[in-house]
Amino acid sequence: MEYNRSEFLIETAVPEDELIISRTDLTGVITYVNETFAQISGYTSAELVGKPHNIIRHPDMPSEVFKELWQTLQEGKKWGGFIKNMRSDTGFYWVYAEVSGVFKEGELVEYKSIRTPIRYEEKLEYQKLYDAMRLKAKERRRIVKYM
Ligand SMILES: Cc1cc2nc3c(=O)[nH]c(=O)nc-3n(C[C@H](O)[C@H](O)[C@H](O)COP(=O)(O)O)c2cc1C
Repeated sequence: MEYNRSEFLIETAVPEDELIISRTDLTGVITYVNETFAQISGYTSAELVGKPHNIIRHPDMPSEVFKELWQTLQEGKKWGGFIKNMRSDTGFYWVYAEVSGVFKEGELVEYKSIRTPIRYEEKLEYQKLYDAMRLKAKERRRIVKYM
């Protein structure tokens, strides 16, 4: 994946009045996305269903965030957190995501996630926090090339 494309620096606005919804199987493979999810991620729903949810993982996201997400789900709890996602054109969008189990007759069958927009100040705060977390964990650093 090429990150030094000009789209990498371009943010897509998340609509205030629509929810971005996806569901996965218990291993994190996408089973459903709504139209808003498809549009904002730049993929079609056919391209997304059947793919692991990390298809939209942004390189700025520290692994620790997702480790905590999966641990929380495995404890049977709901997880909420700030996520920067990467579009198909390498552009990005920030959301607050809530992830939880889908139960059928008391049995955990899938996971679902609902995302909403966040404030500009929150994006700045979490960009800084995640940059620091990646640095501490010796994960990939962000190098932006201007063309
Ligand atoms: C319902 C659900 C929704 C998820 N939504 C996202 C998401 O929007 N962006 C993301 O990067 N990971 C999301 N994840 C986590 C991914 O499954 C994955 O753990 C993450 O992208 C990190 O990739 P990795 O586990 O391969 O390191 C979601 C997981 C579940 C169960």
